[in-house]
This record gives sequence, structure tokens and C-alpha cells, in this order.
Amino acid sequence: MKILWNDQIVDEKEVKIGYEDRGYQFGDGIYEVIKIYNADVFTATEHIDRLYASADKIQLVIPYTKDVLHKMLHELIEINEVQNGHIYLQVTRGTSPRQHNFPLPVVESVLTAYTKETTRPLAELENGVKVCFVEDVRWLRCDIKSLNLLGNVLAKQEAVSKNCYEAIQHRGEIITEGSSSNVYGIKDGVLYTHPVSNLILNGITRKVILDCCQEVGIQVVEEAFTKEQALEMDEFIMSSTNAEVMPIISIDGHMIGNGKRGEWTEKLQQAFEKKIPATLEV
Ligand code: PDD
Repeated sequence: MKILWNDQIVDEKEVKIGYEDRGYQFGDGIYEVIKIYNADVFTATEHIDRLYASADKIQLVIPYTKDVLHKMLHELIEINEVQNGHIYLQVTRGTSPRQHNFPLPVVESVLTAYTKETTRPLAELENGVKVCFVEDVRWLRCDIKSLNLLGNVLAKQEAVSKNCYEAIQHRGEIITEGSSSNVYGIKDGVLYTHPVSNLILNGITRKVILDCCQEVGIQVVEEAFTKEQALEMDEFIMSSTNAEVMPIISIDGHMIGNGKRGEWTEKLQQAFEKKIPATLEV
């Protein structure tokens, strides 16, 4: 497999990452996961924009233009001949002797990106998944797609240890987001989701879903809701680049609605699929 390493596409064996890379030592960097449908990058512009926005928020300079990066990603999926899957891309603040503050003089950032061939989670998209509540103990800049994912890792591990697909995080009584997803509840034909703020990642799939809501005629209320309200929703959904529009059928063992994928969820899934018409031809 070929890897994008800074501005070059090289064989994976050629990639050398320093043991003092700040991504490795401090999680000092940012990342994106971008979906590939039918050999094309889905919502690439939005992901690249978010990457540069995350970089700005941590004062990290990516030494390529967005256009150059966009082209390099296309080249990478072409060379690796990926049909369906995703790109994982990260940029760290570079390699320098360990100290907490930024290196001075500034060192070059280190970019790596690789592709992975995967299939869509079709069974889960149809049958729905079970989740559990986990206290959100993360920092207060969850809007940054940072490499520092320990809070998310521990939340997901707790979910997996309980045989759940995802951890639905809450700060006190307020639902924020999943460990690697955004979440939504639907009650009486209205979709509720946490507003974009420092407490959640502004998901690209979230944006696509909010567009889908307009198309299918469901009202959107971007307001925080509580755990108690979550359990009373008619339908519950999580979303991410890989999970797409994923129905949630139970939380902590409490059945949501009738315990099956809901009607609005199915409509939103159909609207979402229309935005990736290339997949339907596969
Ligand atoms: N995670 N919230 C968190 C904390 C996330 O990690 C993610 C995505 C999302 C959904 O964002 P998007 O729709 O842009 O994928 C929300 C990626 C996929 C990951 O870490 O693997």
C-alpha cells in the first residue's frame, strides 16, 4: 500500500516517523476520516476545510494549499485502487526534542494519509444498534478534531465491554455526542441534536443529515436534550463518516420506540443515499 507522507506518495515501508514526533508524544496534531464511495472522496471539501480549521485552532501550519492536498488525496486513492472505504489523514506539529511548548524554531509538520478498503455497515443500518450512556469526561475543545482521543477511547471501550456499538456521552444530564459520532433524537416528527459548540465535533455527516431533514420535511431543533428525554424519543440516531445514518434501538437496555429502525430514520437514510448515487451503481 502507498502512503501520502508529507507531499509525496511512497511505499509504506519508506515512511519514517520520529520517536519524538509530537503526535506520538503529546497527541499534538489533528486528523480527518474521509469516506470513499466508488473511488471518489465524499464531501472532500468539507473535510479539508475542517482539517485546516482544526489546524488554525491549535496554531499548526499545514504547508500545502487545500487544492494541493485535495489533489494528493485523489492521487492516493487512484494509486491504491480503492473502490469503497476511507482515507485516514493526520498532521502532527512535527518532530523535535520533547518539551511541552511549541518547537522554536518552528519545525515542519508531519502529514500521513493512508487508505482502507471497507464495506458499508449494511446489517446495522437496517437492524439498528444498541448503545449505552457514558459520562463525557473530555476537555472543553471537542470542536477540534484532535489526535488526543483518550476520553473517546475510554468511552468506546466501556461501550464495547458492555456489548454496545457506541457510547452516548453526557455532561451531567445533557447529551453531547457519541465517542466517535454525533447523536440525534426524534420526537413527534421533530429532530433534536446538540447545537454546534465547543462541546461537540461539528460532524460532516451531521451537516449532510441536516440537509436531508429539509428534504424529507422533518423539523430540526438544534438544542441540547437530557438523558431522560433521550430515553423517551420515538427514534434515536448516531452518525459519522463510516456509520452514516445509524439507527439506535436501545440505550442502556431501554428500548427506543418499538425497538426497530424508525420511519423518519429510514427516510433520512434514503435521502442520504441519494447524495452518494455512485454507490448505488456498485
Ligand atoms: N469520528 N464526533 C466525534 C467525537 C467523532 O470522532 C466523529 C467522527 C464525529 C462525526 O464526524 P463526521 O461525521 O465528520 O465523521 C462526531 C471519526 C469518523 C473517527 O474518529 O473515526
